[in-house]
Amino acid sequence: MRSKALFNQLRQRVPLISVGVLSADLMSLGSDLELLKRAGVELLHFDIMDGCFCPMMTVGPGFVKAVKTALLKDVHLMIDEPLDKLEDYVAAGADMITVHVESCRHTHRLLQKLGEMTNANDPARGILRGVALNPGTPLETVLPLFDEVEMIFLLGINPGWGGQKFIASTGRRLGQLKEIIATAGREILTGVDGGITQDNISEVAQIGADIIVTGSAVFRGNTPMEGAKFMISAANDGAKGLNADKA
Ligand code: DX5
Ligand code: ZN
Repeated sequence: MRSKALFNQLRQRVPLISVGVLSADLMSLGSDLELLKRAGVELLHFDIMDGCFCPMMTVGPGFVKAVKTALLKDVHLMIDEPLDKLEDYVAAGADMITVHVESCRHTHRLLQKLGEMTNANDPARGILRGVALNPGTPLETVLPLFDEVEMIFLLGINPGWGGQKFIASTGRRLGQLKEIIATAGREILTGVDGGITQDNISEVAQIGADIIVTGSAVFRGNTPMEGAKFMISAANDGAKGLNADKA
């Protein structure tokens, strides 16, 4: 990674929620994003699905670019062989790009290539590189990637749809992943994506998730602003429990 500015900025602010834009009402997206920002949201999560790697199709780089926002763009690529598509997403303003280890033939090369790219919003910021693991993928898969990755996401559901039920073993996997990272003496952000609700976000934050992706839980409540405020405060409560355990 050319610049660690964004990594350092986020590291100090965890836990963070990253709000899934595809759960939003597109007719009121502009004003809703303003309200999310006022609620304290910093990351906007784009779920890119190609109908091949996962069953649904969603949006591409054109949509990512068209969403004009001061929120950081967190792009989750659920597409086959994303290597040649990276440039399009970087040009669209991605600040964070996550790929699935299951979708790339050359994950390491892809991460190296992403590490050489420049953030289109601000060259000094750097682009955070993430890998995501489906619920059935062994955690050890990420070990050889540690030199080339800033974030590791565990999917709490099988990718394809918002609003699915959280797979309970994800919490245990997150704890094991944190141990693997600590044992290796690395500083890598961890995240959980999928199936997060008002009822389980604190628990996930207490296990130590740095970035928690949440789509339907923010947009299905009364207002997105209230939904986001609840999720941020519950994540912070969970993280306080984590820090109390450490002390
Ligand atoms: C699933 C996506 C997730 C998901 C989040 O394939 O990666 O980002 O849509 O939505 P919720 O929070 O509704 O599970
Ligand atoms: Zn996602």
